[in-house]
Amino acid sequence: MKRQPLRLAILEATRILDEAGVASPRTDAELLAAHVLGVERGRLPLIPLVDPPVVEAIGQLVSQRAKRVPLQHLTGWAALGDITVNVGPGVFIPRPETELLLEWGVQLLKGREYPVVVDLCTGSGALALAIAHAVPDAVVYAVDIDANALAWARHNADARAAAGDTPIRLYSGDVGDGTIFAELDGLVDLVVCNPPYVPPGGELPPEVIDYDPAQAVFAAEAGLAVIRQAVATAARLLKPGGGMAIEHDDSHGAAAPAVVASRKVLTDVRDHKDLAGRPRFVTARRT
Ligand SMILES: C[S@@+](CC[C@H](N)C(=O)[O-])C[C@H]1O[C@@H](n2cnc3c(N)ncnc32)[C@H](O)[C@@H]1O
Repeated sequence: MKRQPLRLAILEATRILDEAGVASPRTDAELLAAHVLGVERGRLPLIPLVDPPVVEAIGQLVSQRAKRVPLQHLTGWAALGDITVNVGPGVFIPRPETELLLEWGVQLLKGREYPVVVDLCTGSGALALAIAHAVPDAVVYAVDIDANALAWARHNADARAAAGDTPIRLYSGDVGDGTIFAELDGLVDLVVCNPPYVPPGGELPPEVIDYDPAQAVFAAEAGLAVIRQAVATAARLLKPGGGMAIEHDDSHGAAAPAVVASRKVLTDVRDHKDLAGRPRFVTARRT
């Protein structure tokens, strides 16, 4: 059978994904091709010709992506910081929106010895594991309410520990429980949280509505319910000088900082933009 130019297969995939309304058709086409070929995306230009079964395999993934199955469910992984985690049905896919929050948290830990970190609403474990990777002497705790998410987090935590990272401590629990991590009250250097924060009824793409668990996306009180609980928990857990960073909806650039500022023990309240320049996370320090 005749070998075919990879470039043409990617062009055709891009056209199909574009017509299906996929937001980044070229990127997705290249990532799916790289996944089939088992290479990094940047190496695709080094592969001029591919066998027909490769074109066929790319075509099959592209047709699923065109039905708006998330890219990360097809490749099986998502990246945050310097690590990747496995994702699939039943767990929220980590987003680039969380990158700068991660960076802020890692920066805060600089110069602290054996810092204690708590990741509230851990999902796949991505934030907790990315911090454990970046700050090997950190003692990282993570919690989620959802058993399916925790199963993914357990799998990812085991994989990262096997790769040499410091193991994290995973718990099942509700951020709204006023006694969660009570043994860490006043001892924590950093609390991070990417909670559910989309106001109910908000319009979202099919990849989110049909594949991210609703409990990971939507929150009551116009999206602020879990943020309020996370702020209360952070205020209790943080040691003096400790910091917290909580992600929020881009419509909450004023509301989320107001929730944080309502806690007298939290100071230096600042809102930050994400990589796309939208209001995305609020930070504060414990007085
Ligand atoms: C937006 S996802 C974030 C996952 C992960 N931190 C990330 O950035 O990819 C929110 C997570 O919060 C969890 N969650 C929702 N309500 C919760 C609660 N009250 N207590 C603990 N976890 C909760 C969901 O199960 C979901 O895994």
